[in-house]
Amino acid sequence: MPLCFPIDTVLAILKRFPRPADPLEQQALERLRTMEAQEADSLWEQLCLRVLLNPVYLEALWPDACVQHPEMRQLLQRLQERLWVPDVRVQTENDSAQWVLEQGDAEQHDTLMHRLLAYLRSGNPNAGTPFAFLARYYTWRDLLVTQLVAPERIDLVDRVFALLDMQNKQWGKPYCGGYAYQGYARIGIAGVKPTEERLDGYAFMPWLNEGMSVLEIGCNNGFMAIELACRAGLVDAVEYNPFLVEIGRITAEALGQHNVNFQVADFSSWRPNRRYDVVLSFANHCTIDGNLAVEFENFVAKLWCLTQDDGWLLFESHNVFGAGTGAAGDDGDLDRKFDIMERYFELQDSKMTRAFVPSQDIDKLFVVLRRRPEVIPCVQRCMNLPQARQLYSYQGEPFA
Ligand SMILES: C[S@@+](CC[C@H](N)C(=O)[O-])C[C@H]1O[C@@H](n2cnc3c(N)ncnc32)[C@H](O)[C@@H]1O
Repeated sequence: MPLCFPIDTVLAILKRFPRPADPLEQQALERLRTMEAQEADSLWEQLCLRVLLNPVYLEALWPDACVQHPEMRQLLQRLQERLWVPDVRVQTENDSAQWVLEQGDAEQHDTLMHRLLAYLRSGNPNAGTPFAFLARYYTWRDLLVTQLVAPERIDLVDRVFALLDMQNKQWGKPYCGGYAYQGYARIGIAGVKPTEERLDGYAFMPWLNEGMSVLEIGCNNGFMAIELACRAGLVDAVEYNPFLVEIGRITAEALGQHNVNFQVADFSSWRPNRRYDVVLSFANHCTIDGNLAVEFENFVAKLWCLTQDDGWLLFESHNVFGAGTGAAGDDGDLDRKFDIMERYFELQDSKMTRAFVPSQDIDKLFVVLRRRPEVIPCVQRCMNLPQARQLYSYQGEPFA
Protein backbone atom coordinates (compact mmCIF):
# COMPACT_ATOMS: atom_id res chain seq x y z
CA MET A 1 0.00 0.00 0.00
CA PRO A 2 1.47 3.41 -0.93
CA LEU A 3 1.64 6.07 1.77
CA CYS A 4 -0.87 8.94 1.83
CA PHE A 5 0.00 12.54 2.65
CA PRO A 6 -2.18 13.52 5.67
CA ILE A 7 -2.66 17.04 4.31
CA ASP A 8 -5.46 18.23 6.64
CA THR A 9 -3.57 17.19 9.75
CA VAL A 10 -0.36 18.80 8.53
CA LEU A 11 -2.21 22.03 7.72
CA ALA A 12 -3.77 22.03 11.18
CA ILE A 13 -0.32 21.62 12.74
CA LEU A 14 1.18 24.48 10.72
CA LYS A 15 -1.68 26.76 11.77
CA ARG A 16 -0.84 26.33 15.45
CA PHE A 17 2.32 28.48 15.54
CA PRO A 18 2.45 30.19 12.17
CA ARG A 19 5.21 32.39 10.81
CA PRO A 20 3.28 34.69 8.44
CA ALA A 21 6.43 36.65 7.55
CA ASP A 22 8.32 33.52 6.44
CA PRO A 23 8.10 33.28 2.63
CA LEU A 24 9.00 29.57 2.44
CA GLU A 25 6.34 28.69 5.01
CA GLN A 26 3.76 30.62 2.99
CA GLN A 27 4.82 28.81 -0.19
CA ALA A 28 4.62 25.47 1.64
CA LEU A 29 1.07 26.24 2.79
CA GLU A 30 0.07 27.18 -0.74
CA ARG A 31 1.58 23.98 -2.12
CA LEU A 32 -0.23 21.87 0.48
CA ARG A 33 -3.54 23.45 -0.52
CA THR A 34 -3.06 23.00 -4.26
CA MET A 35 -1.06 19.79 -4.73
CA GLU A 36 -2.48 16.85 -6.68
CA ALA A 37 -3.01 13.73 -4.54
CA GLN A 38 -0.49 11.62 -6.44
CA GLU A 39 2.23 14.25 -6.20
CA ALA A 40 1.45 14.74 -2.50
CA ASP A 41 1.74 11.03 -1.71
CA SER A 42 5.05 10.72 -3.47
CA LEU A 43 6.33 13.74 -1.53
CA TRP A 44 5.15 12.20 1.75
CA GLU A 45 7.07 9.04 0.93
CA GLN A 46 10.25 11.06 0.31
CA LEU A 47 9.75 12.92 3.57
CA CYS A 48 9.24 9.64 5.45
CA LEU A 49 12.40 8.18 3.95
CA ARG A 50 14.35 11.30 4.92
CA VAL A 51 13.04 11.36 8.49
CA LEU A 52 12.60 7.70 9.40
CA LEU A 53 15.99 6.58 8.11
CA ASN A 54 18.00 9.34 9.75
CA PRO A 55 19.05 8.65 13.36
CA VAL A 56 19.32 12.40 14.02
CA TYR A 57 15.66 12.98 13.16
CA LEU A 58 14.48 9.79 14.88
CA GLU A 59 16.02 10.98 18.13
CA ALA A 60 14.85 14.58 17.72
CA LEU A 61 11.23 13.71 16.86
CA TRP A 62 10.65 10.51 18.87
CA PRO A 63 13.00 10.97 21.84
CA ASP A 64 10.98 8.76 24.21
CA ALA A 65 10.62 5.85 21.77
CA CYS A 66 14.36 5.97 21.03
CA VAL A 67 15.17 5.65 24.73
CA GLN A 68 12.45 3.19 25.75
CA HIS A 69 12.35 0.62 22.95
CA PRO A 70 15.34 -1.71 22.50
CA GLU A 71 14.43 -2.29 18.83
CA MET A 72 14.61 1.47 18.18
CA ARG A 73 18.04 1.61 19.76
CA GLN A 74 19.19 -1.27 17.55
CA LEU A 75 17.75 0.47 14.51
CA LEU A 76 19.57 3.71 15.32
CA GLN A 77 22.81 1.85 15.56
CA ARG A 78 22.26 0.05 12.27
CA LEU A 79 21.33 3.29 10.53
CA GLN A 80 24.49 4.93 11.77
CA GLU A 81 26.59 2.01 10.57
CA ARG A 82 24.95 1.50 7.20
CA LEU A 83 26.81 4.41 5.71
CA TRP A 84 30.09 2.57 6.07
CA VAL A 85 29.64 -1.21 5.79
CA PRO A 86 28.38 -2.30 2.34
CA ASP A 87 26.68 -5.54 3.49
CA VAL A 88 25.01 -3.93 6.47
CA ARG A 89 23.92 -1.12 4.21
CA VAL A 90 22.19 -3.36 1.66
CA GLN A 91 20.47 -5.43 4.35
CA THR A 92 19.40 -2.32 6.26
CA GLU A 93 18.01 -0.71 3.13
CA ASN A 94 15.86 -3.73 2.37
CA ASP A 95 14.56 -3.98 5.93
CA SER A 96 14.13 -0.24 6.17
CA ALA A 97 11.97 0.17 3.07
CA GLN A 98 9.34 -2.05 4.66
CA TRP A 99 9.77 -0.32 8.01
CA VAL A 100 9.28 3.14 6.47
CA LEU A 101 6.09 1.98 4.78
CA GLU A 102 4.76 0.76 8.12
CA GLN A 103 5.86 3.65 10.32
CA GLY A 104 5.18 6.38 7.76
CA ASP A 105 1.50 5.49 7.58
CA ALA A 106 -0.07 8.37 9.50
CA GLU A 107 -3.56 6.87 9.24
CA GLN A 108 -2.67 3.76 11.24
CA HIS A 109 -2.75 4.16 15.00
CA ASP A 110 0.47 3.40 16.78
CA THR A 111 2.80 4.15 13.89
CA LEU A 112 5.57 6.66 14.56
CA MET A 113 4.08 9.19 12.14
CA HIS A 114 0.60 8.90 13.60
CA ARG A 115 1.94 9.45 17.11
CA LEU A 116 4.10 12.40 16.07
CA LEU A 117 1.34 14.22 14.18
CA ALA A 118 -1.17 13.67 17.00
CA TYR A 119 1.34 15.13 19.46
CA LEU A 120 2.18 18.14 17.27
CA ARG A 121 -1.48 18.80 16.57
CA SER A 122 -2.63 18.95 20.18
CA GLY A 123 0.43 18.75 22.48
CA ASN A 124 0.80 21.43 25.16
CA PRO A 125 3.77 23.71 24.32
CA ASN A 126 4.22 24.46 28.03
CA ALA A 127 4.30 20.86 29.23
CA GLY A 128 7.53 19.15 30.24
CA THR A 129 10.95 20.76 30.14
CA PRO A 130 11.21 24.19 28.42
CA PHE A 131 11.14 23.82 24.63
CA ALA A 132 10.45 20.05 24.81
CA PHE A 133 7.40 20.52 22.60
CA LEU A 134 8.54 23.47 20.49
CA ALA A 135 11.89 21.88 19.62
CA ARG A 136 10.01 18.95 18.07
CA TYR A 137 7.36 21.20 16.52
CA TYR A 138 9.84 23.45 14.71
CA THR A 139 12.13 20.57 13.70
CA TRP A 140 9.16 18.94 12.00
CA ARG A 141 8.13 22.24 10.42
CA ASP A 142 11.60 22.77 8.96
CA LEU A 143 11.72 19.27 7.48
CA LEU A 144 8.30 19.71 5.97
CA VAL A 145 8.95 23.17 4.53
CA THR A 146 12.26 22.23 2.92
CA GLN A 147 10.81 19.00 1.52
CA LEU A 148 7.82 20.84 0.06
CA VAL A 149 9.35 23.98 -1.39
CA ALA A 150 13.12 24.11 -0.96
CA PRO A 151 14.60 20.74 -1.98
CA GLU A 152 17.87 22.51 -2.81
CA ARG A 153 18.24 23.30 0.91
CA ILE A 154 17.67 19.74 2.16
CA ASP A 155 21.33 18.78 2.28
CA LEU A 156 22.29 21.94 4.22
CA VAL A 157 19.37 21.62 6.64
CA ASP A 158 20.19 17.94 7.29
CA ARG A 159 23.79 18.93 8.05
CA VAL A 160 22.63 21.72 10.38
CA PHE A 161 20.46 19.26 12.33
CA ALA A 162 23.35 16.76 12.47
CA LEU A 163 25.51 19.48 14.08
CA LEU A 164 22.73 20.39 16.54
CA ASP A 165 22.55 16.68 17.43
CA MET A 166 26.32 16.61 18.05
CA GLN A 167 25.99 19.74 20.16
CA ASN A 168 23.22 18.17 22.23
CA LYS A 169 25.27 15.06 22.92
CA GLN A 170 28.67 16.67 23.41
CA TRP A 171 28.18 20.24 24.60
CA GLY A 172 25.86 19.82 27.55
CA LYS A 173 24.06 23.16 27.82
CA PRO A 174 22.16 23.68 24.58
CA TYR A 175 19.72 26.55 24.26
CA CYS A 176 16.08 25.95 23.20
CA GLY A 177 15.93 22.24 24.01
CA GLY A 178 18.66 21.60 21.46
CA TYR A 179 16.77 23.21 18.57
CA ALA A 180 18.08 26.27 16.63
CA TYR A 181 18.05 29.54 18.63
CA GLN A 182 18.42 31.74 15.56
CA GLY A 183 16.28 30.82 12.56
CA TYR A 184 16.92 31.63 8.92
CA ALA A 185 13.87 31.69 6.65
CA ARG A 186 16.20 31.83 3.65
CA ILE A 187 17.34 28.25 4.25
CA GLY A 188 14.10 26.88 5.75
CA ILE A 189 14.91 26.97 9.47
CA ALA A 190 12.23 28.64 11.61
CA GLY A 191 14.36 29.00 14.76
CA VAL A 192 13.15 30.39 18.04
CA LYS A 193 14.24 33.82 16.82
CA PRO A 194 13.71 34.22 13.08
CA THR A 195 16.67 36.27 11.88
CA GLU A 196 15.10 38.23 9.01
CA GLU A 197 11.99 39.14 11.00
CA ARG A 198 14.07 40.05 14.01
CA LEU A 199 16.32 42.31 11.93
CA ASP A 200 13.27 43.94 10.33
CA GLY A 201 12.15 44.87 13.84
CA TYR A 202 15.51 46.42 14.76
CA ALA A 203 15.43 48.35 11.45
CA PHE A 204 19.18 48.93 11.10
CA MET A 205 19.84 46.72 8.07
CA PRO A 206 19.22 49.38 5.38
CA TRP A 207 21.64 51.67 7.22
CA LEU A 208 24.56 49.21 7.06
CA ASN A 209 26.85 49.63 4.07
CA GLU A 210 29.84 47.99 2.43
CA GLY A 211 32.23 50.39 4.14
CA MET A 212 31.27 49.14 7.60
CA SER A 213 32.87 46.51 9.77
CA VAL A 214 30.67 44.65 12.26
CA LEU A 215 31.41 42.52 15.32
CA GLU A 216 28.81 40.12 16.68
CA ILE A 217 29.47 38.79 20.17
CA GLY A 218 28.07 35.31 20.92
CA CYS A 219 26.84 34.84 17.36
CA ASN A 220 25.18 31.48 18.11
CA ASN A 221 24.63 29.51 14.87
CA GLY A 222 25.74 32.49 12.80
CA PHE A 223 22.60 33.11 10.76
CA MET A 224 22.37 36.74 11.82
CA ALA A 225 26.07 37.27 11.12
CA ILE A 226 25.58 35.90 7.59
CA GLU A 227 22.58 38.14 6.99
CA LEU A 228 24.54 41.19 8.22
CA ALA A 229 27.39 40.25 5.89
CA CYS A 230 25.00 40.63 2.94
CA ARG A 231 25.09 44.40 3.59
CA ALA A 232 28.24 45.18 5.58
CA GLY A 233 31.80 45.05 4.26
CA LEU A 234 33.02 42.61 6.86
CA VAL A 235 31.52 40.72 9.80
CA ASP A 236 33.55 39.07 12.56
CA ALA A 237 31.46 36.71 14.67
CA VAL A 238 32.71 35.24 17.95
CA GLU A 239 31.07 32.27 19.63
CA TYR A 240 32.16 29.89 22.38
CA ASN A 241 30.20 26.82 21.24
CA PRO A 242 32.12 25.14 18.38
CA PHE A 243 29.13 23.19 17.08
CA LEU A 244 27.19 26.41 16.50
CA VAL A 245 30.17 28.03 14.82
CA GLU A 246 30.39 25.08 12.46
CA ILE A 247 26.72 25.60 11.54
CA GLY A 248 27.56 29.22 10.72
CA ARG A 249 30.54 28.18 8.61
CA ILE A 250 28.74 25.54 6.53
CA THR A 251 25.80 27.87 5.98
CA ALA A 252 27.98 30.78 4.88
CA GLU A 253 29.82 28.44 2.53
CA ALA A 254 26.59 27.02 1.09
CA LEU A 255 25.28 30.54 0.50
CA GLY A 256 28.59 31.82 -0.92
CA GLN A 257 28.92 34.51 1.76
CA HIS A 258 32.67 35.02 2.10
CA ASN A 259 32.94 38.26 4.11
CA VAL A 260 31.87 36.69 7.41
CA ASN A 261 34.57 35.26 9.69
CA PHE A 262 33.57 32.91 12.47
CA GLN A 263 35.84 32.40 15.44
CA VAL A 264 35.46 29.89 18.24
CA ALA A 265 36.48 31.93 21.28
CA ASP A 266 35.58 32.85 24.82
CA PHE A 267 34.73 36.53 24.48
CA SER A 268 36.13 37.27 27.94
CA SER A 269 39.65 36.43 26.81
CA TRP A 270 39.34 37.17 23.07
CA ARG A 271 41.69 39.93 21.86
CA PRO A 272 41.19 41.09 18.27
CA ASN A 273 43.71 43.36 16.60
CA ARG A 274 41.15 45.78 15.22
CA ARG A 275 38.10 47.91 16.13
CA TYR A 276 34.63 47.87 14.53
CA ASP A 277 32.16 50.44 13.23
CA VAL A 278 29.24 48.50 14.71
CA VAL A 279 29.32 46.13 17.68
CA LEU A 280 26.37 43.83 18.46
CA SER A 281 25.78 42.52 21.94
CA PHE A 282 22.46 40.69 21.74
CA ALA A 283 21.50 38.95 25.00
CA ASN A 284 25.21 38.41 25.56
CA HIS A 285 26.49 40.71 28.35
CA CYS A 286 26.12 37.62 30.52
CA THR A 287 24.70 34.29 29.40
CA ILE A 288 22.26 31.95 31.10
CA ASP A 289 24.43 28.96 30.21
CA GLY A 290 26.98 30.48 32.63
CA ASN A 291 29.74 30.54 30.00
CA LEU A 292 30.02 34.34 29.96
CA ALA A 293 30.01 35.92 33.41
CA VAL A 294 32.16 39.04 33.13
CA GLU A 295 31.40 41.86 35.56
CA PHE A 296 29.15 44.35 33.71
CA GLU A 297 31.53 47.35 33.71
CA ASN A 298 34.40 45.17 32.49
CA PHE A 299 32.18 43.96 29.67
CA VAL A 300 31.10 47.49 28.65
CA ALA A 301 34.68 48.79 28.86
CA LYS A 302 35.77 46.04 26.47
CA LEU A 303 32.96 46.96 24.05
CA TRP A 304 34.12 50.59 24.17
CA CYS A 305 37.68 49.53 23.29
CA LEU A 306 36.42 47.37 20.40
CA THR A 307 34.26 50.13 18.88
CA GLN A 308 35.66 52.66 16.40
CA ASP A 309 35.66 56.35 17.34
CA ASP A 310 32.12 57.51 16.72
CA GLY A 311 31.03 53.88 16.23
CA TRP A 312 27.78 52.23 17.30
CA LEU A 313 26.77 49.69 19.89
CA LEU A 314 23.55 47.75 19.33
CA PHE A 315 22.44 46.11 22.54
CA GLU A 316 19.68 43.60 23.27
CA SER A 317 18.62 42.89 26.84
CA HIS A 318 17.69 39.71 28.60
CA ASN A 319 14.41 39.74 30.55
CA VAL A 320 13.64 43.36 31.46
CA PHE A 321 10.56 42.27 33.43
CA GLY A 322 12.76 40.29 35.81
CA ALA A 323 12.99 40.78 39.55
CA GLY A 324 16.00 43.06 39.14
CA THR A 325 18.41 40.79 40.93
CA GLY A 326 20.88 41.10 38.04
CA ALA A 327 21.22 37.30 37.88
CA ALA A 328 22.07 35.91 34.42
CA GLY A 329 19.00 36.42 32.26
CA ASP A 330 17.50 39.07 34.58
CA ASP A 331 17.77 42.66 33.31
CA GLY A 332 15.11 44.04 35.63
CA ASP A 333 18.09 46.05 36.95
CA LEU A 334 18.87 47.66 33.60
CA ASP A 335 18.75 51.21 34.99
CA ARG A 336 21.60 50.32 37.32
CA LYS A 337 23.47 48.70 34.42
CA PHE A 338 22.91 51.83 32.30
CA ASP A 339 24.40 54.02 35.04
CA ILE A 340 27.57 52.25 33.93
CA MET A 341 26.79 51.84 30.22
CA GLU A 342 26.14 55.54 29.63
CA ARG A 343 29.58 56.51 30.90
CA TYR A 344 30.96 54.78 27.80
CA PHE A 345 28.15 55.07 25.24
CA GLU A 346 25.48 57.68 24.62
CA LEU A 347 21.89 56.45 24.47
CA GLN A 348 20.33 57.19 21.03
CA ASP A 349 17.00 55.34 21.15
CA SER A 350 15.36 52.09 22.19
CA LYS A 351 12.33 49.91 21.54
CA MET A 352 10.80 46.77 22.95
CA THR A 353 10.65 43.78 20.61
CA ARG A 354 8.18 40.93 20.90
CA ALA A 355 9.04 37.30 21.59
CA PHE A 356 8.53 35.00 18.61
CA VAL A 357 7.52 31.74 20.29
CA PRO A 358 4.61 31.16 22.66
CA SER A 359 5.29 31.44 26.39
CA GLN A 360 8.87 30.11 26.37
CA ASP A 361 10.50 33.36 25.28
CA ILE A 362 10.26 36.95 26.51
CA ASP A 363 9.95 40.40 24.98
CA LYS A 364 13.35 42.11 24.85
CA LEU A 365 14.56 45.69 24.95
CA PHE A 366 16.69 46.74 21.97
CA VAL A 367 18.93 49.75 22.52
CA VAL A 368 20.91 51.90 20.06
CA LEU A 369 24.01 53.59 21.50
CA ARG A 370 26.88 55.71 20.19
CA ARG A 371 30.45 55.48 21.49
CA ARG A 372 31.54 58.48 23.54
CA PRO A 373 34.90 59.96 22.49
CA GLU A 374 36.00 59.80 26.14
CA VAL A 375 34.67 57.83 29.08
CA ILE A 376 32.74 60.16 31.42
CA PRO A 377 32.99 58.93 35.03
CA CYS A 378 29.89 60.86 36.23
CA VAL A 379 27.01 61.07 33.80
CA GLN A 380 23.27 61.70 34.12
CA ARG A 381 21.63 58.49 32.87
CA CYS A 382 19.00 58.86 30.09
CA MET A 383 17.69 55.27 30.17
CA ASN A 384 14.49 54.93 32.14
CA LEU A 385 13.56 51.28 32.25
CA PRO A 386 9.92 51.58 33.41
CA GLN A 387 9.29 53.98 30.49
CA ALA A 388 11.38 52.05 27.95
CA ARG A 389 9.47 48.85 28.77
CA GLN A 390 6.26 50.49 27.51
CA LEU A 391 7.53 51.56 24.07
CA TYR A 392 7.37 49.09 21.17
CA SER A 393 8.63 51.57 18.55
CA TYR A 394 11.54 54.01 18.39
CA GLN A 395 10.88 57.55 19.59
CA GLY A 396 13.08 59.01 16.85
CA GLU A 397 14.85 57.69 13.76
CA PRO A 398 18.16 56.35 15.07
CA PHE A 399 19.30 55.09 11.66
CA ALA A 400 17.97 57.93 9.51
C1 LIG B 1 21.36 34.07 24.54
S1 LIG B 1 22.38 33.46 23.27
C2 LIG B 1 22.37 34.88 22.20
C3 LIG B 1 22.83 34.55 20.82
C4 LIG B 1 22.90 35.75 19.86
N1 LIG B 1 23.68 36.82 20.40
C5 LIG B 1 21.51 36.21 19.51
O1 LIG B 1 21.01 37.13 20.14
O2 LIG B 1 20.90 35.63 18.61
C6 LIG B 1 24.00 33.55 23.99
C7 LIG B 1 25.11 33.02 23.09
O3 LIG B 1 26.38 33.32 23.68
C8 LIG B 1 27.24 32.21 23.55
N2 LIG B 1 28.27 32.30 24.60
C9 LIG B 1 28.18 31.91 25.89
N3 LIG B 1 29.32 32.19 26.53
C10 LIG B 1 30.16 32.76 25.64
C11 LIG B 1 31.50 33.24 25.72
N4 LIG B 1 32.19 33.17 26.85
N5 LIG B 1 32.06 33.76 24.61
C12 LIG B 1 31.35 33.81 23.44
N6 LIG B 1 30.09 33.36 23.31
C13 LIG B 1 29.49 32.84 24.40
C14 LIG B 1 26.29 31.02 23.71
O4 LIG B 1 26.86 29.83 23.20
C15 LIG B 1 25.09 31.51 22.91
O5 LIG B 1 25.19 31.20 21.56
